[in-house]
Amino acid sequence: METLTLNNGLRMPVLGIGVNHVPSAEVGPALAHAFEAGYRSVDTANTYLNERAVGRAVRDSGLAREEVFLTTKLWSTDSGYTRARAAIDRTLKRIGTDYLDLLLLHQQYGDYNGAWRAFQEAVAAGKVRSIGVSNFNPRRLADLIGRARTVPAVVQVERHPYFQQRELRAFLEPLGTAVEAWFPLGHGDAGLLAEPLFAELGRKYGKSPVQVILRWHVQDGGIVIPGSTDPDHIRSNAALFDFALTSEEMDRIALMDRNRRFHNLPEFVEGIVFQAMRTDYDRKQR
Ligand SMILES: NC(=O)c1ccc[n+]([C@@H]2O[C@H](COP(=O)([O-])OP(=O)(O)OC[C@H]3O[C@@H](n4cnc5c(N)ncnc54)[C@H](OP(=O)(O)O)[C@@H]3O)[C@@H](O)[C@H]2O)c1
Repeated sequence: METLTLNNGLRMPVLGIGVNHVPSAEVGPALAHAFEAGYRSVDTANTYLNERAVGRAVRDSGLAREEVFLTTKLWSTDSGYTRARAAIDRTLKRIGTDYLDLLLLHQQYGDYNGAWRAFQEAVAAGKVRSIGVSNFNPRRLADLIGRARTVPAVVQVERHPYFQQRELRAFLEPLGTAVEAWFPLGHGDAGLLAEPLFAELGRKYGKSPVQVILRWHVQDGGIVIPGSTDPDHIRSNAALFDFALTSEEMDRIALMDRNRRFHNLPEFVEGIVFQAMRTDYDRKQR
């Protein structure tokens, strides 16, 4: 598995498997297929309600804990220093691990600066190796970075050929912050997957359109966490490292950017809805 060196010197696999919306009972089989296919990175979150199952799947895999890069996310209702501190400990217990490889603050609402202080402390205490944020707009990201001792190692955002996040990437590049794509396949959008360019490049390289899209992400310096519970998809999504797109082909994909997101809730709605979410994750998951 290829890795990328983060701005704290630690390495992260450029490909992982995402388990959003995967019920706990399906996490074990999906991760067993993924580990078999060579994945060594898993992306979950408190709100996915499957962290216990992820922890079990890692233990059942027979892989040493250090061989698996484990990411999870704290929800914004657990922001603020005191709440975040307690939520980190509960999360570790729930997953059944001594440390997380990457902890992300899932949303930009609430007292995110207080949460970030708890994140930095968790790194110092050895509970977390790398820290980052998800779904922050540039203004809140700049506010957090301006007050932080530790610059985020990773920023996880929606990113795919229709929404390439060029401005965010340019802002983060001098900080060495890696950009990790959620919805790397546009959440499986049929129109995106059927773009003639991906079929053309797929024919040239003997690859599927999905493999071409995922290859574009990693070759462009990004990290991807495609979601799937289909064993064939899981396997084929990992076959990205035996071909390379030319720079002209990369440029043609860059031209597909059209500022089109698949997640479209306005910020003021998100702020209200997300802050109203309940956080009794321990009770809710198996
Ligand atoms: N930070 C955040 O706020 C946030 C938000 C959303 C997601 N995420 C993370 O990002 C991960 C990925 O997001 P996502 O799963 O929603 O979107 P995605 O990876 O862009 O797309 C997943 C969809 O594509 C299909 N698919 C996967 N591989 C395929 C293949 N080889 N051929 C055809 N279809 C394929 C899947 O169906 P099958 O199951 O049939 O393969 C599924 O419907 C999540 O699991 C989560 O970890 C984070």
